[in-house]
Amino acid sequence: MKMKQCLVAAAACLCAGAWAQGQINIICSVQAEWCNMIGTVYARTTGTKVNVSMKGSGEALAQLIAEKENPKTDVWFGGTGDPHLQAAEQGLSLEYKSPSLSQLYPWAQQQAQQAGFKTVGIYSGPLGFGYNPELLAKKKLAVPKSWADLLKPDYKGDIQVANPGSSGTAYTMVATLVQLMGEDKAFEYLKGLHRNVSQYTRSGTGPIKAVARGETAVSISFVHDGPGEKMNGFPVETITPIEGTGAEIGSMSIIKGARNLEAAKKFYEWALTPAAQEMAAAAKQFQLPSNKSAKNDPRIPDFKKIKFINYDYAKYGASAERRRLIAKWEKDVNSLPR
Ligand code: F6P
Repeated sequence: MKMKQCLVAAAACLCAGAWAQGQINIICSVQAEWCNMIGTVYARTTGTKVNVSMKGSGEALAQLIAEKENPKTDVWFGGTGDPHLQAAEQGLSLEYKSPSLSQLYPWAQQQAQQAGFKTVGIYSGPLGFGYNPELLAKKKLAVPKSWADLLKPDYKGDIQVANPGSSGTAYTMVATLVQLMGEDKAFEYLKGLHRNVSQYTRSGTGPIKAVARGETAVSISFVHDGPGEKMNGFPVETITPIEGTGAEIGSMSIIKGARNLEAAKKFYEWALTPAAQEMAAAAKQFQLPSNKSAKNDPRIPDFKKIKFINYDYAKYGASAERRRLIAKWEKDVNSLPR
């Protein structure tokens, strides 16, 4: 008996020794279920200790700026592409050319190229509206079909969107409107929208969760965040505006000065594989994966049916432009009474 216990213990030791692959610290800017799934699966399959901290895109960038002199993060996984480009420009992320780049869609490769290979596209998704059909019917409100519809007084107090300072989703909205209408008209529009918004949330997914739970009728959200709420049994639908809309290129970056650089590169390579990217749908998140060989769940929005603007990722991901637009929104829009 004793001998058997000893053998089991020895095997466990050997096993732990063979599997001990260091650790990796990840900031994760997608939803919790996906962050937890990649953390758990990666730890179990490689033996690497994975520490995941969840932060919205704007907040993640703020943390990386704050820890620039003494980085505690190895990889920033997910979140809208604009702040990843800003991180690259500010020297917060490391140049790394993945051998898998050619397996990715052109938009994901382009994201890497324009950042000097300091980031890479891992998914994409269109901006649109979420709505609660039951609540709209109860309030006798029509489904909003256009950006213009959202300014109608009928929706006063029934729209939620995130704050562009903390949320990449909301910054994508500001940048989309500026490209769609021109800056002056876009800010007039945002002032009009402000009158109808009940709350600016910290996180980009907060508003569609509020729609799902019947706390607000309409949200401005990435439409890939709708099906997961529906699968959880909530009444939520999505639509994209007829005037046209923008899309995010969700990105991933290795942090310059990463303490666990080799582990970071291994994780990065794994995250670009079809199997890892298919975990998004398994975690009920329906962005379009960037690896061309990843299987596409039918709930992923059909890009061919959506009218897109020609989003200028380089311009709106530039530090000065992003900072300027957010400060202008804060001063000219968020400070106004409702
Ligand atoms: O995880 C859902 C998601 O919509 C991502 O597609 C996107 O990159 C991220 O949230 C943006 O979150 P936030 O607006 O909070 O920065």
